[in-house]
Amino acid sequence: MTLPPAPEPRPTDAARALFSELTGRAPDGLWSAPGRVNLIGEHTDYNDGFVLPFAIPHRTVAAVGLRDDDRIRVTSTFADGPVEVALHELDALFPTRRDEQGTGSDHAPAVPEWAAYPLGVAWALRQAPSTGSGTQEATGSGTQEATGSGTQGVDIAIASDVPVGAGLSSSAAIEGATASALNDLWGTGLDRTALARIGRRAENEAVGAPTGIMDQMASMRGETDAAIFLDCRSLDAHLVPLGVAEAGLAILVIDTRVKHAHSTGGYRERRASCELGAATLGVPSLRDVAVDDLPRARELMDDVTFRRVRHVVTENQRVLDTVRTLREQGARGIGDLLVASHLSMRDDFEISVPELDTAVEAALAAGALGARMTGGGFGGAAIALIEQDAVDTVSNAVGAAFAASGFAAPALFTVVPSAGAHRDA
Ligand code: GLA
Repeated sequence: MTLPPAPEPRPTDAARALFSELTGRAPDGLWSAPGRVNLIGEHTDYNDGFVLPFAIPHRTVAAVGLRDDDRIRVTSTFADGPVEVALHELDALFPTRRDEQGTGSDHAPAVPEWAAYPLGVAWALRQAPSTGSGTQEATGSGTQEATGSGTQGVDIAIASDVPVGAGLSSSAAIEGATASALNDLWGTGLDRTALARIGRRAENEAVGAPTGIMDQMASMRGETDAAIFLDCRSLDAHLVPLGVAEAGLAILVIDTRVKHAHSTGGYRERRASCELGAATLGVPSLRDVAVDDLPRARELMDDVTFRRVRHVVTENQRVLDTVRTLREQGARGIGDLLVASHLSMRDDFEISVPELDTAVEAALAAGALGARMTGGGFGGAAIALIEQDAVDTVSNAVGAAFAASGFAAPALFTVVPSAGAHRDA
């Protein structure tokens, strides 16, 4: 008789076990935050535009306990061993080098990159004025002293089932779980939006990835059954019911397993092109450019910058159109918008890769209503909106297309909109 394989440890169990291994005691609590899929609205967040992400069932769990001293120690199931520093040393570890646009720093963190996420959150949280009112947001200057909170040491053990490097925001999930835990244990009293800003600040300034706010907002503010329609300028967030299951549909994630990183290269360049485009047009950001302005934009800038601008401007419009279509027609109506978004990213923003294009084309050929890459690009995952009973057909077709192109097999799974960050125990 063959024994069935041992079940994968749930991240909650794994985080708890890792914490006990590290400290010899039980944690004070467990906090978790999810990864996200972005339904539509890519590279619009740092242009003050619109996005429509939702939190996924995959989560990162932080088992955390206060210490008697002023040291912070972090470990995770994906690390070689713990990293430990005194809390006051964090200020030297992550010197603020953010420029006015918040485009992040160029320095490599002096700790292993994975540890820069939770330590960066602790650093950013210590610099946020404690309010108790729950409305204060993190400041950007980074010069003030910690105000009472954030002075007691902590041990943090992290485990996750969010795929890393798949464009599903494993980093925002670490930030969200850590920020939620420290906010509770240190009594910082920040609300979810303020904690999302803390996570983004850690990512921009401690890790050095010049990302926008979408992932952290999706991870902190996700809700079951709904996507978050977020205005990235005001941070106004509205829940939009997706009704995918009610329409007999499912969302399939196709993780190409082509790893991406946003701290270097293409992401930073795209962001610079957007800033150049906005400056050329004399507006604060591309949010302020309408589709009707595009003919004028074409005359004012080089072709590459124009195509970057056109992607962002039309993508913002596609988010608005998707929200309206969801409300008026339901999920069955949005397929063409998803496809248009993918083509814009492939041809104008040039952030797709052959594996993502193959995933999208194969899913559509197998009957998907719509499909697009999701996340920052240069690898990662695509999503396909498919009939519920077509999961196997579409998965097999995508697998076959990958094999025929000589690509490594993708990971395929369905997702449903899920809860945002919360305390688990
Ligand atoms: C990454 C970043 C986000 C966003 C997307 C692209 O996920 O973290 O801020 O810019 O890429 O939409």
